[in-house]
Amino acid sequence: MALLEVNDIHTYYGNIHALKGVTVEVDTGEIIALIGSNGAGKTTTLRTISGLMEPREGAVYFEDEDISNTRADLLVSKGISMVPEGRGVFAKLTVEENLDMGAYIRRDGGVKDDLAGAYELFPRLEERKKQVAGTLSGGEQQMLAIARALMSKPRLLLLDEPSMGLAPVLVDGVFDTIQRIANEGVTILLVEQNAHMALQIADRGYVLQSGEVAISDTAANLQQNETVQKTYLGID
Ligand SMILES: Nc1ncnc2c1ncn2[C@@H]1O[C@H](COP(=O)(O)OP(=O)(O)O)[C@@H](O)[C@H]1O
Ligand SMILES: [Mg+2]
Repeated sequence: MALLEVNDIHTYYGNIHALKGVTVEVDTGEIIALIGSNGAGKTTTLRTISGLMEPREGAVYFEDEDISNTRADLLVSKGISMVPEGRGVFAKLTVEENLDMGAYIRRDGGVKDDLAGAYELFPRLEERKKQVAGTLSGGEQQMLAIARALMSKPRLLLLDEPSMGLAPVLVDGVFDTIQRIANEGVTILLVEQNAHMALQIADRGYVLQSGEVAISDTAANLQQNETVQKTYLGID
């Protein structure tokens, strides 16, 4: 069975039927891209997986366990960590305090080593560890948000638009980082409007449209798909 199975979920905001039967599977070791236009339901899908919202119908399974009604903080300890849209770092805390917060659920003694690992992945954050997060650049805040999520030692990392709002010169770096994290054995579900970059690093992808999965295929096939090219890759 897959590491994560999102099985025909329907999620609502009040009366607004945001997800209309979304099914997504993620196997251990994969990078899965979730692409789609603004309002398609990408964030809602991640919010439902991570326990911030509950599906009204359908179910989410993580390692064969039904987690549809499990709270977000419990899911972090089960191994699911999310980097939200807009990053959400604690602006008034220092870089190092933010990273410590990411490890708050941990009871093992490995936190110091993982802090060292985070600084190895992002040397820039080590240089700035005493700086308050609110004064970091957008790119540095994105690094911090990802590093903080990694401090809980996730097996599944959910990333919501990590390249959004970043200067073009920084975008390559973000995707390179995601690839390196995957190489360390973390499974990744990546939401992106930058379909071009997302499909370059992904194994497979799902195209969301108006709360439904319109297309799902290997990343290579999606890159060749005419509809995907026209609508999401800007190729005529
Ligand atoms: N807090 C909210 N309250 C009401 N409707 C919302 C809220 N957040 C999102 N929606 C609606 O749910 C749908 C899916 O939104 P979202 O998951 O944020 O899309 P995406 O991340 O793909 O841009 C959209 O129609 C959006 O307007
Ligand atoms: Mg979104």
